[in-house]
Amino acid sequence: MTMYLKCIACGEKYNEDEIIYSCRRCGDLLEVKYDYEILREKLKESNWRKLPLSVWRYRHLMPVRNHSKIVSLNEGGTGLHQCKRLGKLLGVKRLYVKNEGENPTGSFKDRGMTVGVTKAVEHEMNIVICASTGNTAASLAAYAAKAGLQCIVLIPSGKIAYGKLAQAMVYGAKVVQIKGNFDQALEIVLELSEKHRKVYLLNSINPFRIEGQKSLAYEICDQLEGEAPDKLIVPVGNAGNISAIWKGFSDFYQLNLIRSLPQMIGIQAEGAAPIAQAIREGSNSIVPMNKPETVATAIRIGAPLSWKKAIRAIRESKGTAETVTDQEILEAQKMLARHEGLFVEPASASSIAGLRKLLDLGRVDKNDTTVCVATGHGLKDPDIIMQTCKKPIEIEAKIGPILEYLGLSKPIAPIATIR
Ligand code: F0G
Repeated sequence: MTMYLKCIACGEKYNEDEIIYSCRRCGDLLEVKYDYEILREKLKESNWRKLPLSVWRYRHLMPVRNHSKIVSLNEGGTGLHQCKRLGKLLGVKRLYVKNEGENPTGSFKDRGMTVGVTKAVEHEMNIVICASTGNTAASLAAYAAKAGLQCIVLIPSGKIAYGKLAQAMVYGAKVVQIKGNFDQALEIVLELSEKHRKVYLLNSINPFRIEGQKSLAYEICDQLEGEAPDKLIVPVGNAGNISAIWKGFSDFYQLNLIRSLPQMIGIQAEGAAPIAQAIREGSNSIVPMNKPETVATAIRIGAPLSWKKAIRAIRESKGTAETVTDQEILEAQKMLARHEGLFVEPASASSIAGLRKLLDLGRVDKNDTTVCVATGHGLKDPDIIMQTCKKPIEIEAKIGPILEYLGLSKPIAPIATIR
């Protein structure tokens, strides 16, 4: 058997073609397991290294049997930007930003959805559903449109960035705004998908989505020419992505494609930080927050579903978790834009804010090769910029006053011609 599903708590195994989201025996999370011997052979025989950087470059490590059914919008292959100016400012020598805003719908969710929606097609499902703080909804709606499936998304009313809402609407999803938060929306879709077996759930509880998202780690290793970074810093909301990225690095390590593993560092907004709190207290469980609040609406989550996987990733990698304030997030967003030309949404900037804090605390060393994951594009949430940046001046359409405003009224002396 190349792959199967396994419960992370009791170890119960399930066939990979079963439609199941959590363990029937103990209710815990499932993960996809592979026989690495078989994967090693498959990789040896394939030309994966010649394929362009993308999720499907790693098709042999993905849980898809029939490659002709793949639903793709060209996801992955995002830039790993070396940030020399920002690195210098923060005091870290090798800083990289993995810019997931370069994905088709502008976030890392596309990596998961290309696999998840392909599975929906394999399972012959007609309807897909998710709860979302915005990006999952936008991504699922796009991939469902590409595959010709109906899409339902539940979002917290008034608490998602406008760009994301616009995306879900234009791709034709049935958008339901609930009078509640993300955690409540998630509870509803979990129940709904158990009751209506023809509705396929594509939140990150679906173990196949995580498989697509692990390609983010594969790409980083390939972009660093076969090395893993020392530190991997990523924003944490529902905690699927940090788990996925750790799985990706672990796969590459098991397959002897990298020689070391990074420390995984999860960053949460101060007002929505149950995982960081558990790590700080050395606890093996989280205390959900009933009223999560942060300007970074993407990670405004009080009861992260994949907390157990996230804590495992942090502990196994000898990493950590930290919190950042809304102000630190907004400052980091501007720093990244103004020093590196990268415009990311607030949740994404929390990884930069977290790095800044950890450098101050001496928990990241200036010599560490550090990768911050920028999870989503800044244009998703232009409102926040309108609120935090100074409004541009309005001037008469005449050159005089414009020159005066720009401080260019006095003509600059012509450069003497050299004979
Ligand atoms: N960054 C962004 C931009 C996100 O949209 C999310 C999650 C995260 C980070 C956190 O990732 O949940 O895997 O820990 N957004 C989800 C959504 C919850 O519905 O779009 P996570």
